[in-house]
Amino acid sequence: MKQLLLSAFALLLLITGYAQKAPGLAATPPMGWNSWNIYACEIDEQKIRDVAKAMVDRGLKDAGYEYVVIDDCWHGQRDSLGFIQCDPVKFPSGIKALADYIHSLGLKFGIYSDAGTKTCGGRPGSLGHEYQDALQYAKWGVDYLKYDWCSTDNVNPKGAYTLMRDALAASGRPILFSMCEWGNSKPWEWAAEVGHMWRTTGDICNKWEGSMNNGTWFAWSAMTILDMQEGLREFSGPGHWNDPDMMEVGNGLKTSEDRAHFSMWCMINAPLIAGTNLQKASDETIQILTNEEAIAINQDKLGIQGLKVSKADSLEIWYKPLADGDWAVCFLNRNANDKTIDYNWMETVVNDTFAKRETNFASTVYNIRDVWTHKELGKTKKSLKAVVPCHDVLMLRLTPEKN
Ligand code: GLA
Repeated sequence: MKQLLLSAFALLLLITGYAQKAPGLAATPPMGWNSWNIYACEIDEQKIRDVAKAMVDRGLKDAGYEYVVIDDCWHGQRDSLGFIQCDPVKFPSGIKALADYIHSLGLKFGIYSDAGTKTCGGRPGSLGHEYQDALQYAKWGVDYLKYDWCSTDNVNPKGAYTLMRDALAASGRPILFSMCEWGNSKPWEWAAEVGHMWRTTGDICNKWEGSMNNGTWFAWSAMTILDMQEGLREFSGPGHWNDPDMMEVGNGLKTSEDRAHFSMWCMINAPLIAGTNLQKASDETIQILTNEEAIAINQDKLGIQGLKVSKADSLEIWYKPLADGDWAVCFLNRNANDKTIDYNWMETVVNDTFAKRETNFASTVYNIRDVWTHKELGKTKKSLKAVVPCHDVLMLRLTPEKN
């Protein structure tokens, strides 16, 4: 009887095509590069190849960056059977050849589509072609799909994203699924089983504070997007990350602002998707993007999103519990003036009820390391005196002293 029930169950799974998102991916926040923030629709195969090569040559691959993702506007038309083709002028060698090249560098390859009739750039969307598109991506060697939300009138978000998840599963290739629904339907509440990451907001823009009016929609600055993450930390974790959008590091913010933007993306477990021209980027930009101590905080295996514990006069203090009893602590100065701090650890108790972790500086002494200067700053027995420059951070790693 048990045998019979098991066979019936197996048959049911086969018929209903039981699917799940590709398992084992995104155990830590995905790292890579995406074409949109720097090139928008002005992409071609040479630009993507150059970026992939620079990712290796300039140390990003060694620092953990893995995915090279082409965003919108790679598409041509569908063929007579409905299979999507690439733009033959921009990608004359075809997507498979590009994927092969990226794989030959030891990197992974990502692509972009949309759950509606058209992508945001007006190219063919996947609506009604989900299984066909997933098959095509698998044939090309795609490892990552960013799936957008334009032209989706009357489409149900949960249904649409689950459908593409199932289509990807049926393609037989493990493909990381990056949902880009802008947080409209609160995907953090329902998408842990659907995607590996989901956008929590509309688009980022190359600004520090405030927004940018694009006529019919607003894009948000790095700091505004940071504010929009309020209340979401408990939804982030291994295999399912809040995505506050790709980084603008290197695209025109001041160096201190780039450093602060990057640090905060590390503190909140954001996927680290660079969005600048890696070939032409300054050494300063590359140093920020490849700071291994900051990246280690983002990639910490516990995957607990950081917590804002205080804000006074535009100085925010963030804590992030790390593995082995460590903590990351970040002082973020959003004020227009430098801030002098005299931080008394002994008078501070951070009780993170979500992570079930509490600091107790009276009973545990920590060694303090500055993640950006790579210097030891003493111990938590003494107050920490420092200057946090305007629009910058002081980012620390605390490690319990060994007895
Ligand atoms: C939307 C997305 C962006 C980008 C563009 C492409 O705006 O949110 O990240 O993919 O579409 O057109």
